[in-house]
Amino acid sequence: MLIARTLAELRQHLQRFNRPAFVPTMGNLHQGHLDLLRQAKPLGDVLVASIFVNRLQFLPHEDFDSYPRTFEDDCAKLRSQGCDVLFAPDEAELYPQPQTFKVQPDPALADILEGQFRPGFFTGVSTVVMKLFTAVFAGQAQGVAVFGKKDYQQLMVIRHMVRQFALPIEVVGVDTSRAPDGLALSSRNGYLSANERAEAVHLSMALRQLGQEALACGTELPNLLKQLEAQAIEYLRQRGWQPDYLCVRRRLDLQAPLVGDALVVLGAAKLGTTRLIDNIEV
Ligand code: PAF
Repeated sequence: MLIARTLAELRQHLQRFNRPAFVPTMGNLHQGHLDLLRQAKPLGDVLVASIFVNRLQFLPHEDFDSYPRTFEDDCAKLRSQGCDVLFAPDEAELYPQPQTFKVQPDPALADILEGQFRPGFFTGVSTVVMKLFTAVFAGQAQGVAVFGKKDYQQLMVIRHMVRQFALPIEVVGVDTSRAPDGLALSSRNGYLSANERAEAVHLSMALRQLGQEALACGTELPNLLKQLEAQAIEYLRQRGWQPDYLCVRRRLDLQAPLVGDALVVLGAAKLGTTRLIDNIEV
């Protein structure tokens, strides 16, 4: 596996390929990332991953400084999945000057749900992903980028960005990898104490339950939605969580569903000091 630290090294190395398959990450890789890499591998003629903890997508009180950095371990995991090229720039390489030009996603999509609780998050994500895309795909006629559905809203924002800027990139969403008890795999699960880890599965349980109830409402869903969501929030609150949102939305654009829409149930809640997010398509 070639480790490129600079844009120039990366571009020079990728010149000889026609269709990179790219998995961007912030490192601290777990089975979920490995599943993304495994699915990405056959989609291109070179498998590229990146590790970059992107300051732009963290709020001042969030865990940028303490975000786990496990580079050697990550490299071993990437090699085990046949990763050909790792792009691992330092901050000065990707942000040589303060990043004053930014990719501003549509507020209708980016200022709801996660964006409501993490203002600017999707601007930070879109900006770094655009930079990573120009790094990996510059000069390529086409490419494929693979993202987890665990970050459902992120995946939608990136899809819209690619479409609106007419980037020659196919965006592939991969189903969420889960622990045997159903907890969605996430780097932040590592922050949970043993008790919190045992409790953590209740987020996905609450989402699943909310999804079942939403489906059972049939044509009454628009009228009953707020009540069902409030019940799901109360369920987690009673168990000691601090929920930000548990919402039933239509998959198409994450707006409130109309009768007949395909649904996704999304949630974010804090358990102790750890904020977890998850979603379930129903
Ligand atoms: O999902 C992530 O790990 C990050 O948001 C991403 C896409 C690598 C951008 O920093």
